[in-house]
Amino acid sequence: MRKLFFIFIVFFCYTMACFCDDSTVLKTKINPIIDNILSRKSVRKYSDKKIEQEKIDAIVKSAMAAPSAMNKQPWELLVVTDKEILEKLASIAANASYSKDCQLAIIVCGNKSTSEKFWIQDCCAVTENILLAVESLNLGAVWCAVFPDDVKVQQIQELFSISEDIIPLNIVPIGYPLVKEYPKQKYTDKKVHLNKWEK
Ligand SMILES: Cc1cc2nc3c(=O)[nH]c(=O)nc-3n(C[C@H](O)[C@H](O)[C@H](O)COP(=O)(O)O)c2cc1C
Repeated sequence: MRKLFFIFIVFFCYTMACFCDDSTVLKTKINPIIDNILSRKSVRKYSDKKIEQEKIDAIVKSAMAAPSAMNKQPWELLVVTDKEILEKLASIAANASYSKDCQLAIIVCGNKSTSEKFWIQDCCAVTENILLAVESLNLGAVWCAVFPDDVKVQQIQELFSISEDIIPLNIVPIGYPLVKEYPKQKYTDKKVHLNKWEK
């Protein structure tokens, strides 16, 4: 009888562990890439743990795998790991104040002289690729806008002595999440319009 009770307890704990795992909840059974997209969330609090170089390499490679209009690739990435510079970034952009506590920030810049018309869209695709790569590596990040705030744009250009045709679009602070965070549920079929627009 005691043995049976023990087996029941083990089975119960295993079942509970499966149900409590948020990744199980999010699993679509389609593929892990879709699950990664659905798991992405903004993370604004980071631990002190350093980010491995191979992870940084994977993130920047993913960033530059983004699509771009006419394949012009009008992007430049400023990869910042220096604590002093991270603190300066936080003071320039209050909306990216998390930079002072992170281990890595990537400033996604657009090269206007390469693609005057589409640099913003192209660099937004880069930014989303960064966020998805970060999620897949069990890191956390948040998209922080710089452009179109002219003051922030100019201060960052001055900080790195970069020319006027290179526009800092976003700062993405990255680090190991301090606490477990969960994605917001956003899906609604009210925003899906099949073949025609119905009110
Ligand atoms: C264009 C853009 C600008 C954003 N700027 C900021 C920002 O300056 N600071 C910030 O904390 N979050 C910023 N965010 C993140 C949003 O607040 C966040 O994506 C949104 O609340 C949805 O939450 P989620 O990313 O967890 O799904 C920005 C996101 C986008 C797409």
